[in-house]
Amino acid sequence: MEEKKTVSEYMEALKNINADKDFSACVVTYGCQQNEADSEKIAGMLQESGYSIVKEPALADVIIVNTCAVREHAEERALSVTGGYKHLKAARPWLKIGICGCMVSKSDMSEKIKKSYPYVDFVFGTEKLAHLPEILYHSYEKKKRIFVPNNGETEIAEGLPVIRESDFRAWVSIMYGCNNFCTYCIVPYVRGRERSRRPEKIIEEVRELVSNGYKEITLLGQNVNSYGKEFDGECDFATLISRICEIDGEFSIRFMTSHPKDASRELIDVMAENSKTAKHFHLPVQSGSDRILKAMNRRYTIDDYLALVDYMREKMPDIAISTDIIVGFPRETEEDFCQTLELMKRVKYDMIFSFIYSPRTGTPAANMEQLPQEVKSERMNRLLALQNELLAEKNESYVGKTLRVLVEGRSKTNEAKMSARTEGNRIVLFDGDESLTGKFINIKITKSAPFALMGELDV
Ligand code: 5AD
Ligand code: SF4
Repeated sequence: MEEKKTVSEYMEALKNINADKDFSACVVTYGCQQNEADSEKIAGMLQESGYSIVKEPALADVIIVNTCAVREHAEERALSVTGGYKHLKAARPWLKIGICGCMVSKSDMSEKIKKSYPYVDFVFGTEKLAHLPEILYHSYEKKKRIFVPNNGETEIAEGLPVIRESDFRAWVSIMYGCNNFCTYCIVPYVRGRERSRRPEKIIEEVRELVSNGYKEITLLGQNVNSYGKEFDGECDFATLISRICEIDGEFSIRFMTSHPKDASRELIDVMAENSKTAKHFHLPVQSGSDRILKAMNRRYTIDDYLALVDYMREKMPDIAISTDIIVGFPRETEEDFCQTLELMKRVKYDMIFSFIYSPRTGTPAANMEQLPQEVKSERMNRLLALQNELLAEKNESYVGKTLRVLVEGRSKTNEAKMSARTEGNRIVLFDGDESLTGKFINIKITKSAPFALMGELDV
């Protein structure tokens, strides 16, 4: 029997078997920041395995599609894009196509790909990320298709190579999986149970990023507030944040996503006390109705949620708060929906990410009585209209203020301007030099536009 190799050994082995070829690889990513962070590791492993990384699938000898399963639309897109790669394989028969991420983490979808997408060479679930070099190696050597969905593996692979998309902004995953089982959500089924990285590993990674000039570090997890539960009180999330803030250097620390039932007062206190924490809190509410929150298994009430928001604003008056809202959850009545609109008016969010409820097979809500599509769409339109109105008001409230922003580079929509982001993730356009990219600067806001703020350098 063949001896099992480590990840590094498989990367080396891949380099050897393709030594005489000038191979490239392309990673195509759908979905959330966690997927983006995973894709940076996939690209890192492929580069270490001898591939140069390209952006164009048509130029690649290996294509990895990192998929999302949170809504049906995301799955449809990933499948249709994968379908489009069939002709690339006809032109380049040696091309390897792999699919990973949430959509293929359950065995039923893995099976569907096996049957209906014969040109897909391999599939691996979210828990199997570090197995990519091994899978790819066997795909070449054994010349057979490989399907590895999740099976409850809990080990966290440390030290994987990574190619970061940005030179000044970095993702750091601190935990994986989710134990909450909100009734609409597929995530606990495709990302497995919660597991946290050791705090010293996280701190080491952040320290290295800061010493390499990274300015904004975002800690990622499906529910960061339950970080460290398995460490018996040794290091919870608030403690982790305060330990990271002790690292020397100019940087800001952000995190997502938080669950309102677990976000602690201690965490808010730590944020208020530390200038290195970005004053932004993403706190998904999902609905403004207690009845719907119960049906969603969210385990908080709107009163609990508002008490948390009030506490944040008491401690940090200028904090930016953003949220996720689902419209048209099963049995949502007009009254439930109006309570969501009322909540939006009460909280005055800085940003709202709103989604039409999408039934996910295998989740409890998919078996509940569904609302007609027209009702869902009509409510969504009303929510968006209110959101635009509230956003315009919010943007207007920034005019005249001076804000600390991180410069991102030249604006993609307005070439004449530079683009930056506030701590609350708002885009600010201003006249300035490209050498400011990746730096924190102060900007005085002079004007508000529907989807951005305009400002000038405040020196
Ligand atoms: N339908 C619509 N939106 C969903 N989300 C999660 N599952 C679903 C679903 N089945 C939304 C939630 C979550 C965000 C990431 O996606 O609002 O916070
Ligand atoms: Fe999904 Fe709820 Fe877990 Fe968030 S907390 S990933 S919405 S189950």
